[in-house]
Formats: sequence, structure tokens, C-alpha cells
Amino acid sequence: MHSLTSSRADAPFVASAPSRADDAAPAPRPNSGSHLAPVDGTSLERFVRGPLSEAVLQVLQHDDQAGMTTAAPPTREMLLALTDEATAAAPSITYDDDIQAALFLLYASHYGSLPWLDPEHEWVPSLLEVRVRLERDFERELRAAIPMPLLPAPDPGEVSRALFELASDDSGPSLSKFIARKATKDQVVEALKQRSIYTLREADPHSWAIPRLTGRPKAALVEIQSDEYGGGRPERVHQQLYAAALRQADLSDTYGAYAHEVPAITLASFNMMSMFGINRRLIGAIVGHLAAFEMTSSIPCKLTADGLRRLGFGDDVIDYFDEHVEADAVHEQIAARDLAGTLAEDRPDLLPDIMFGAAACLTVDGWMAQHMFEACQRGESSLRPREITRGAGQKTGLPSRGQGGSHTNQSRLLDRSIQPIRSSRRSQETTQ
Ligand SMILES: [Fe+2]
Ligand SMILES: [Fe+2]
Repeated sequence: MHSLTSSRADAPFVASAPSRADDAAPAPRPNSGSHLAPVDGTSLERFVRGPLSEAVLQVLQHDDQAGMTTAAPPTREMLLALTDEATAAAPSITYDDDIQAALFLLYASHYGSLPWLDPEHEWVPSLLEVRVRLERDFERELRAAIPMPLLPAPDPGEVSRALFELASDDSGPSLSKFIARKATKDQVVEALKQRSIYTLREADPHSWAIPRLTGRPKAALVEIQSDEYGGGRPERVHQQLYAAALRQADLSDTYGAYAHEVPAITLASFNMMSMFGINRRLIGAIVGHLAAFEMTSSIPCKLTADGLRRLGFGDDVIDYFDEHVEADAVHEQIAARDLAGTLAEDRPDLLPDIMFGAAACLTVDGWMAQHMFEACQRGESSLRPREITRGAGQKTGLPSRGQGGSHTNQSRLLDRSIQPIRSSRRSQETTQ
């Protein structure tokens, strides 16, 4: 349970309070609300994976947040310099820990998923500049790496057929088959932790699209999302079902509890859908993403449930997966034809991005699944090494302005054994 603190409300309001960035966040207001403690009483620094994510966190956090406020707040110039340094130095944006951690924090601020990020700092202009620059490079890398499917005619039936064909093109290893037949309890627990990054916020990235759609595709998306959000029954909200699964498996259901343990590719999978969802110009991509997501959920969830039963997990752990066996068999039909198909018919200009979003879902979640599958095959953990996650709690220190070469991203070493960008179309089956 988060503990409320009164330090902020008690603090005298002074105009000379340290400003954050040149375009500083609104000055703290007395009685504007106390902040919440970080997850599980641990330090915010666990979310830091390098200088950029540290700088972003310093701007986003509450002004009185202990532990991260001793250094001078980064200025706009420092933030942008760190951003450019990070993207220039990273062999892969997708696999770069510091960049993906920074994006994760920036999106978390918009979702409100980490309550110790100050809502007063959500629209700090320099942070928006950072996000746009990171997204520009992230999207460019994805578009270059992901094979673009052939475009069908902009007709609901044709689009639906093309999406199902794309989703069925499965040539990679199947993580869910492995979970069904061979995975150990520890490996399943790791998979539950990896999934928590998205699934405790399940459906939220796609909900950004609702106000941006009209007519038939809007009705279809709301029909799917209504199920995802429990159809009026709070206990059936899929996020809540997953939280119950985590608790039953003796894991934390607090959002972000495992964010410091998962590799960059897990953050990248969630960040990609957040990027597609939050940017209106990518409306086609988030719709295509959801269609592919729903199409690759039902059978993997059945296999995962089989594995959980084999290993003796309780009903509350299995319930989430059982729920998706039937629900997503319905959702995939709605998503493919009524959502993606009608959107393509109404807006043929969005067809390329609908197909790109679907391919991106299959590809990036395939990379994530492949990472986990290969770790299992080697008998190793798919999580970040303990010594590095412990190291994430140490301050890296912001470089001074223009200090080149300071982007010593310790965590980039983590995924060295993984190809920076994989070209296989699909090895996924981890997602719901
Ligand atoms: Fe769901
Ligand atoms: Fe679904």
C-alpha cells in the first residue's frame, strides 16, 4: 500500500524553488496533493538505466521526492543533449535500456501508472521535445526493420483476410507451447513478471484511439475495450484479473514492481504500443496493432493455461488466461473486420499503417518472446542480471552540458547476446 506523505503540502511555497528545465514545470502549489511513495518502498532510482532516464525522472518526479533531488535539475539543453547523445550512441533504439527506460517513464507520466510522477510535470515542453525525438528515431528504426506486408484492397473482408494471413505466418519458436509442455515454475514466474509491464495496463494503449475514431471503427473498438474493462464488472477488468493472478503467484501486483528487472525489449514492446496509441498521426498503426494482438491471443492463452495447470498454479492465476481463450476468439473477428477493415474502407490512406501496426505487433512481440524462449533454452534467466538491477539503484550522475561520451549505458550490455534487430516476422505468442 502506498503511503501518503505530507511533506509537499507542508513545504513553504517559494518562488525560488529549484526549477526543472528552462521551461520548468508549474511551480509546486501548496495543497496540490501529496505524492505517493515508490513501489514497494524502494527507491525511484531503480527506474534509472543511464543518464537520459535519470534526467527524465528528475524532471517528472515530485519536487519533494527524496533521493533524486540532490543534483541540479536538468535544463532543457541538457535534456536534449542527453537525448541526442543517447540516440546517436545506441546501436539499436529498440534494445537500448536507457532510451527505453526514458520512454517508459515519459509514457507512465501520461498514463498516470506511477503515482509518484507529478501530474504537474506532465506537459513540461522540454519533456515533450525529448519524447518526440526519441519516438522519431524509434519509429524510424521499426519501419526500417519490420517487413511491410502486401497491402490488400481497402475493403473490410480483404483487410480481415490479409490480417489473419499475416498473423498465421508463424515460423518462430512458440513460447506458449514451451510453457504448456516444459517450462519450470521459475520460468513461468519470470514470464508473469515480464507480462506485468503491459498486462497490468492492458487495453490502455489502444484506448487512446477511441476519441480519434468515428462511426463503425469507433463502435468496434469500444465493443472490444468494454470487454477488456470488465463490461461494468470491476472484478472482471482484465488488468484486475492479471493483478489477481500475480497475487496468487506470490508476486507483487503494484504497477512497475518489476520494471527494473525486465530487459529493454520488454519495455520496447509496451513503449511501441504507447507510441502508436498516443500519437494521433499513428492511428492506423494502433488499430493494426490491436488486430494482430487479438488474433494471436486465444491459442497462446490456452497453451499458457495448460502449462499453469501442469505446474499446479491456482485458479486465480489461470483465470486470466482462461478468460482470454474465448474472449479473444471473439475480439479477433471484431478487430480484424469491424475495426481495421472498416477503418481502411473509410480511410484508405491509413491502410499502410494498419498493416504496419499489425506487422510491428507480431515482430516486436516476437523479439520479446524469442528473448525469453532463448533464455529458457539456455537455462538462464530472461530478466536483467541481479548485479545490474542492483546497480540501477545507484545514481549515475548527470553529465555536464556538452559532455560528450558520457552516455555510458551500463545496461546496454544486457542484451548483447541478442541480435539488435531481428528480421523474423513472427515468433511471438507471449501476448494475450
Ligand atoms: Fe484482455
Ligand atoms: Fe482481447
